[in-house]
Amino acid sequence: MMQPPTWTTEHGGPDSGPPILHDFSSNANPLGAPDSVVQALQMADRQRYPDPDYRALRESLAHSLGTHAARVLPTAGSSEAIRRLTLAAFLCGVRQVWVPQPGYGDYQAAAQALGLQVQGYATGEALLSALTSQAGPSLVWLCEPCNPTGQSLPPSFWSALASLRHQRAGLTLALDRAYEPLRLVGQDPVPAALAEQCWQLCSPNKALGLTGVRAGYAIAPADDPHISMTDFQILAPSWVVSAEGVAMLLAWHQPDTQAWLARSRLTLALWMASQQTALAHAGWHCEPSVVPFMLARPAHAVGFLRAHGIKLRDATSFGLPGWVRLSAQAPHAQQALFQTLTQMETAR
Ligand SMILES: Cc1ncc(COP(=O)(O)O)c(C=O)c1O
Repeated sequence: MMQPPTWTTEHGGPDSGPPILHDFSSNANPLGAPDSVVQALQMADRQRYPDPDYRALRESLAHSLGTHAARVLPTAGSSEAIRRLTLAAFLCGVRQVWVPQPGYGDYQAAAQALGLQVQGYATGEALLSALTSQAGPSLVWLCEPCNPTGQSLPPSFWSALASLRHQRAGLTLALDRAYEPLRLVGQDPVPAALAEQCWQLCSPNKALGLTGVRAGYAIAPADDPHISMTDFQILAPSWVVSAEGVAMLLAWHQPDTQAWLARSRLTLALWMASQQTALAHAGWHCEPSVVPFMLARPAHAVGFLRAHGIKLRDATSFGLPGWVRLSAQAPHAQQALFQTLTQMETAR
């Protein structure tokens, strides 16, 4: 059974508590943004509205993605896109929504706000078997790689889903790509032909360490029998993306930005490995992950860390009490974490 709706969803990152000195609770790239992107943001023209059609932005993104500009739809970030796609699905007759469990809370929150029936799935097999036996139009959320687990569904799942999509006309597939640019291990398992049939949500702000810039884009499927691009577009407010958002999205596919990202993945892989080793040494159980964040079960309660300016993401709201999600952080932040843990251990 899914949790009842609340007025707000829980997130990592800033909260209303004391200053956070070392933030392990957000999945944003801790290496910050490259200088060229920071400069592009500074030069964004805030004195005028952006083009309400975002024509140049859509053409630029489409060119980099090898698709048509009509299929690239700017969003105020994927959280906005999740709400908008869920509303479009509802207006097009969808009453059932499938969400990964554990998974990003906004999928469930968006569906419950509209009174839709929400079903959680814990594994790819469970999802396939449920979809095979159920009829009626459904919206299915997929997060690859998944938050909070940091794990990938296997290629066999994705091929089986592709076959099922052919058989079941009423399936709208929504693929959240928030963390694909931060993949450190393995390769994207989603077949290109299946991705073409999904609503793909992209939010470069995480990989660029710019989560305060509320901008992203959706790639509409080549053909969705239920929800058209227009259904999605007409639900957006005018100028849904700010001037800074446009600047960030224009910079995203630039070769120097992508080269910076490739280098930063190497650093993040090193930080992730050293952090996992040190956590295991401290008696924590760490789940494997393909991205620079992971689920872990601490040896003892760690609520005291927040008072020391160190924030981890409590995983209770993901249905995992006693667990935390934490991102790989720089050596000085890791040092602060382990020093505080040791002090508390000594005082215990
Ligand atoms: C899986 C997932 N999707 C979407 C989002 C929201 O992204 P945005 O900042 O683009 O709204 C998050 C943010 O944490 C996330 O973890």
